Amino acid sequence: MKIGTATTMVTLRCIDHQCNTSFPASSSMTHCHCGNLLDVHYDWPDLNPRELKETWTSRRTSMLPEDQSGVWRYRELIPYLSPEAKIITLREGNTPLLKAPRAAAYAGLDEIQFKHQGFNPTGSFKDNGMTTGVSQAAALGKKVVACVSTGNTSASMGAYAACGDLKAVIFIPAGQIATGKLSQALDYGALTIQVDANFDVTWKLVSGLVEEAGIYLLNSVNPYRIEGQKTIAVELLDQMRWEIPDWIVLPGGNLGNSSAFGKGLRELHQLGFITRLPRLAIIQAEGSAPLSQLLERARTEKKSPYELGLLPVLNPQTLATAIKIGAPASWKKALRELEATQGVCISVSEQEIADAKAVIGQSGIGCEPASAATLAGIRRLVAEKQIRKSDNVVAVLTGNLLKDPAYTLAYHQGTLSFSKENQQIPIQSNFGNQPNSVPPDLEQIKKLLSQ
Ligand code: F0G
Repeated sequence: MKIGTATTMVTLRCIDHQCNTSFPASSSMTHCHCGNLLDVHYDWPDLNPRELKETWTSRRTSMLPEDQSGVWRYRELIPYLSPEAKIITLREGNTPLLKAPRAAAYAGLDEIQFKHQGFNPTGSFKDNGMTTGVSQAAALGKKVVACVSTGNTSASMGAYAACGDLKAVIFIPAGQIATGKLSQALDYGALTIQVDANFDVTWKLVSGLVEEAGIYLLNSVNPYRIEGQKTIAVELLDQMRWEIPDWIVLPGGNLGNSSAFGKGLRELHQLGFITRLPRLAIIQAEGSAPLSQLLERARTEKKSPYELGLLPVLNPQTLATAIKIGAPASWKKALRELEATQGVCISVSEQEIADAKAVIGQSGIGCEPASAATLAGIRRLVAEKQIRKSDNVVAVLTGNLLKDPAYTLAYHQGTLSFSKENQQIPIQSNFGNQPNSVPPDLEQIKKLLSQ
């Protein structure tokens, strides 16, 4: 199948403008010699936005895998594979944009739309990046891929590696990932190594080792994963018929996804597909909020955040385990995108995340805890008048409700609690929905029905 456009010049380029070092597109490097991350850089051919928008629409009725994928459908914007390369796809993307009046009212907005990445094949936005990352691994002739993960990356990589006949090795913080995600990785046949440490410690321990062993690393530091994830922003605008939202709101963990959205939006702008950029809002959990803390320090000390540098949170804490990351690898990329889009980054409490998640559930939509940070953040930003009531706001729900059933059950049963400075802090089930138990007695059942 013809995916690549042989005419496009592709390189990997250091994100630091002063360094600006380029590397061949076939390199497995994720970082420049100077320590900064790399971007996939294209010398764009002439693209005709009007014609391409029509082409993308017409592909929606095609039966070809590369057209059915909500990532490869937009292949002109990710032209890094050679024409003969094989793509590994599970028909990712194609996720809906859902209106949710109840959630809008909760946040104080006239309207809100959720771009629900939980509708992906493995239930999270990681699939958009894994189809591109694993396809690149296969194109480079790699046999083994690896990642360190808070759960979703490992589930997704396991699936795509299996689909592409590659061996998958995953490292996860023992006992700190949601059961849905762990069971997925096992089912997809990945070699699953649980390390008795948190994500950051595990990352520090094994990321170098993996590269040394010639294993292809598929964390979001891999620039080809970012290429796939940037198409979420493209599909979103396509679904909105290219009407530009005022805000796109994302949860922030390792900050790869915010980086991907920013890159995608900037490229769409540069290539003439959109006339202005939406603003990005990144929402972190209070106990795992190194980027929002950095921006706060930069404001109070009136210094550049780059000059101050990110101070990792040494013992990150949040029940939203997907974003329990204290030293996000892509903080500089995310900062670049916040600057480009006049974006903001704030943090929200465990109680705010839990209640927002329940409200998203009551809207008939549902999501995993990390995703709900978006609605909690929007509510704050509306209260602070940074987001206006009438603004056009899209929140990205990154993962499916069924990823973390234990959290949802505990919230509704009133047993959810959070450990902070060695204290257990209960989460109030403000929107709780207790399950009822009865003996096999019709009278008691009738009593419940009449309540
Ligand atoms: N939401 C969910 C459901 C996630 O799984 C993640 C990240 C994020 C948000 C944050 O995205 O890291 O790009 O800022 N999960 C990674 C993982 C870290 O290993 O699955 P980010």
